[in-house]
Amino acid sequence: MTEPFLGEHVPNDVTRFSERIRPESTPVLSEMEAYAHREGFPIVGPDVGAWLCQLARINDATRVFEFGSGYGYSACWFARALPDDGEIVLTEQDAENLDRAESYLERLDAADLAAVEVGDAVDIASRYDGRFDIALIDIEKYQYVDAFEEIRDSIPPGGTIVADNTMSAGRDVPDDTVDFDALLSVLTSEIDDLRRTSLPEETRRHTQGIIDYLTHIREQSAFETTLLPLGDGVTVTTRLR
Ligand SMILES: C[S@@+](CC[C@H](N)C(=O)[O-])C[C@H]1O[C@@H](n2cnc3c(N)ncnc32)[C@H](O)[C@@H]1O
Repeated sequence: MTEPFLGEHVPNDVTRFSERIRPESTPVLSEMEAYAHREGFPIVGPDVGAWLCQLARINDATRVFEFGSGYGYSACWFARALPDDGEIVLTEQDAENLDRAESYLERLDAADLAAVEVGDAVDIASRYDGRFDIALIDIEKYQYVDAFEEIRDSIPPGGTIVADNTMSAGRDVPDDTVDFDALLSVLTSEIDDLRRTSLPEETRRHTQGIIDYLTHIREQSAFETTLLPLGDGVTVTTRLR
């Protein structure tokens, strides 16, 4: 399995601890993890995946919207918790990834839960009606605020918007990097502008996307956010009213 990028910031012992506590990946999920490892594909990983599944159980979730589904790893964890009449909307710009997602979901007997949509996730969200108990944001970092704004009115009180990579990203995909140290420096006001750093342009863009997102969600009085330092770090934003 791919080591989480936070490895250098979260003691490896915590990850090893978590491995012994959370539910084990099923054979299909393990196969998907091996694929991510081989291809360097950035999935949420088993610690976050197992937690997404638990979140869906706690919320009695029936409907989930994913911004950025890749080849369906996070969706497969959600699928474990949804009732037979539930729905997961998977969105992905790469049709081949989604074909792969469909075949994994079929193998888990969960294909009936899936609405599979190729295209821009934010555009797709604008075409969906009704409430979603959970939304997962895992697309280009500079689109996180747009994704939040597009889905916020579909989240009921008690519902949750989860965003991945809110502490780091990019060990496997170097041009898709969120820089942990730069992020922390801005959050703690050590620096006020990423242009003062020597980060490569793409890293700056993605890191700025996360800064904008974290600033945005903290300003939302109808929502409350906490941080889960697992995987690459996820924010958990719950609607209060
Ligand atoms: C980090 S991966 C998603 C991983 C997935 N959530 C999981 O853990 O299994 C991000 C995916 O989002 C897709 N993506 C990025 N921006 C997108 C957008 N605006 N609309 C749809 N897909 C997007 C990428 O092609 C990539 O497959």
